[in-house]
Amino acid sequence: MAEPGDLGATRAGYDAIAEGYAKLFRAELADAPLDRALLAAFAEIVHREHGDAEVLEVGSGPGTVAAHLDHLGLAVRGIDLSPAMVGLARRAHPTITFEVGEMGDLDVPGAALAGVVAWYSLIHVPQPRRAAVLREFRRALRPSGHVLLAFQVGDDTLHLEQAFGHEIALDFHRLRADDVVALLHGAGFEVTARLEKAPEGGTAATRVPQGFVMARKPGPGDGHGPPA
Ligand SMILES: C[S@@+](CC[C@H](N)C(=O)[O-])C[C@H]1O[C@@H](n2cnc3c(N)ncnc32)[C@H](O)[C@@H]1O
Repeated sequence: MAEPGDLGATRAGYDAIAEGYAKLFRAELADAPLDRALLAAFAEIVHREHGDAEVLEVGSGPGTVAAHLDHLGLAVRGIDLSPAMVGLARRAHPTITFEVGEMGDLDVPGAALAGVVAWYSLIHVPQPRRAAVLREFRRALRPSGHVLLAFQVGDDTLHLEQAFGHEIALDFHRLRADDVVALLHGAGFEVTARLEKAPEGGTAATRVPQGFVMARKPGPGDGHGPPA
């Protein structure tokens, strides 16, 4: 089946800017105590409930977030649409597995994962496919598995035709936390936490609030939610 056209543009865009992006965001977590706190809480919850079961970062880019989760003790691997990003992540973090993959069609059996992290990657999925992507996360998660989403907050789409000296056609869909929560509920998740960080200025990405939502696939004995 032909892939949706936006995936080709996103892949080509990130292939072109991978080096520049990796340099700019290499230390992104060092200056982000709230982000680190959320990742630490996610790691603690997942590890406590699922031990060493696998966590997948979807849209892992240069691998910084996956490496941080690995450092926090999770058995994490990453997938990304962009082969250039996967190459950079493998070189920077040779002990972690990174593969080319698409978050809407995970190469993972059902109920296999303890966690799915989409850290600023769901922002590239157009609205009509977002619900299906969240259902795919749910399919891949074990009962009581967790999902963590990070995104820029807003109603608009930032379209970039140029970045890091390259011609691109990348769409960054800002999302409303209420809409993300509704989509998660619709996909059969229970929302366990949400946080909105005030804008910090600087780049187009940080001039808007940042949203974070954590959710859980219902587990045995929960007695609600659609069947796995
Ligand atoms: C803004 S970057 C975030 C990278 C990394 N999570 C981080 O925070 O540094 C978005 C990444 O998601 C990837 N991506 C976008 N759409 C994707 C999809 N449908 N499946 C897998 N990866 C995707 C892009 O190639 C890019 O590397």
